[in-house]
Amino acid sequence: MFDIKNIAAGGIAEAAKKIFGTAPEPAQIADMIEYPPDKSMGDIAFPCFRLSKLLRRSPADIASALASEISLPEFSEITAVSGYLNFRADSTGLAKKTVSEIKEKGDKYGSPMNGTGKTVVLDYSSPNFAKPFHIGHLGTTVIGHSLKLLHEFAGYKCIGINYLGDWGTQFGKLIVAYRKWGVKEEVEAGQCDALVALYVKFHAEAEKDPSLNDEARHEFSKLEAGDEENTALWKWFVEISLREYRKTYKLLGIEFDSYKGESFYTDKMPEQIQLLRDKGLLEIDDGASVVRLDKWNMPVCLILKKDGSTLYPTRDIAAAVYRKRTYDFDKCIYVTSAGQSLHFKQWFKVVELMGYDWYNELVHVPYGTVSVNGSKLATRTGNVVLLKDLFRQAIDKVIEINRQKDPDREPDVATAEKVGVGAVIFHYLSNNRMRDINFILEDALNFDGNTGPYAQYTYARTCSVLDKLSSDELSKLKITDAPLGEEERELVKTLSVFPEKVASAIEEYEPSIITRYISELCAVFNRFYHECQIISCPDADLRMSRLALTEATNTVLGTALHLICISTPRKI
Ligand code: ARG
Repeated sequence: MFDIKNIAAGGIAEAAKKIFGTAPEPAQIADMIEYPPDKSMGDIAFPCFRLSKLLRRSPADIASALASEISLPEFSEITAVSGYLNFRADSTGLAKKTVSEIKEKGDKYGSPMNGTGKTVVLDYSSPNFAKPFHIGHLGTTVIGHSLKLLHEFAGYKCIGINYLGDWGTQFGKLIVAYRKWGVKEEVEAGQCDALVALYVKFHAEAEKDPSLNDEARHEFSKLEAGDEENTALWKWFVEISLREYRKTYKLLGIEFDSYKGESFYTDKMPEQIQLLRDKGLLEIDDGASVVRLDKWNMPVCLILKKDGSTLYPTRDIAAAVYRKRTYDFDKCIYVTSAGQSLHFKQWFKVVELMGYDWYNELVHVPYGTVSVNGSKLATRTGNVVLLKDLFRQAIDKVIEINRQKDPDREPDVATAEKVGVGAVIFHYLSNNRMRDINFILEDALNFDGNTGPYAQYTYARTCSVLDKLSSDELSKLKITDAPLGEEERELVKTLSVFPEKVASAIEEYEPSIITRYISELCAVFNRFYHECQIISCPDADLRMSRLALTEATNTVLGTALHLICISTPRKI
């Protein structure tokens, strides 16, 4: 992989070996290299105190010895300043390398390619049937999908699983509610909304008459036992919900490889329960069967309720074993709200205690809470923002903004969908995943801020420049020897750090690293675009370099947007 940190690290390692007879590996040195806060000091800096112990010299001595030894064509200046070795990239040299690599690799530029031959299973989105698919699921859906795209980009084989919440007492509630207050035609017509309304009504009524809860439990037990009528109703509810979820996924461009939900694991649990018993891990606690985890400072993990029915952890354990056997994964990633962190810690530990040696391939990726315009969510009272409504609002707003800008133009609905959906995703993925966020639609749709529309607009801008060239001209674009100015320099540097950002985003399971990178790239490109003549540049060599930079930006921005599930219309 080419980037300035690695080149500098190679030079440092070689020089240190020559002068001092020893040096750490270049990869280790690359990790020590920093970006100085003040650009006037250089583009990257190596803190020489990190080698003091190994080389038994003062940082200042090391810095000055290295400065006089290293010479690399990619850097125009290498200087020793107070124990630091500062590197200034040679703009033309760096531009040539970066841009030719981008041209050669195209949409593979930036991939660490360290996943080849490995498989990752990703469990994400997983809404619960009969309950609304609301903004609380935005995190798991888009973080999960972005992590899938990032892993695919790195060469992993990825299996995206929607572990649908298609089982549990909520179906008992829904069956009771439907029989008491439901009308078939209304449910058919109202789809998910009608089911949610029934669910909400059930809770309101159960407040007044708690015996409804017993009725619901009874209906669910019947369902578990295979009761024909209840099974038919369950299937119908599942079908209605899934039909609607698929619409939202389609809008987002998300497809899953498997929709095996909780119900699928019903017959896979007894084997695991038996193993827990055989290993002597199950204990009876107040009638329930549990695994004690006090040694690890955790509450007991519930495996069977008093009445023998299974629980959320039981199903997760059975599902993990099934997935390991089916896909032989190298990693199985679960994306859920941080509220479920303890649940995952507990059952991961149980899997380890059961003797499965792949327990450390299970990864939980948590994220913070989401509120909309300041209000938190409460499923049971019906006070929720549905994902489909959030996207609808965003799309309508985009159509409205376009109409204001250009009243005579027919609204282009397909593009408005891409922009509206992209705005929501970008806004959400701008924050570190653990941060609790308050979603404000106006901010997400601001075309002038650090937003999805702004990034898509910048992408379209690169396209409109390139569309003016013939394919012959396009194929010949490259960086020439024309000296580059500050705007071009910054753009080159930003393009050259993309591989590093991708690697960190994967390592930290943090798509927001890519989102923030996109904002940075858009800012430097737009500065370049405003300050420099591109198509109309009178100097042929400089024009060529600037067009090559525009093409490289187009490629990298396109890849980056794709990695956070945002589409890239060529015109908006
Ligand atoms: N359906 C669950 C919920 O909405 C999330 C499932 C997460 N995945 C898992 N394997 N537990 O809370």
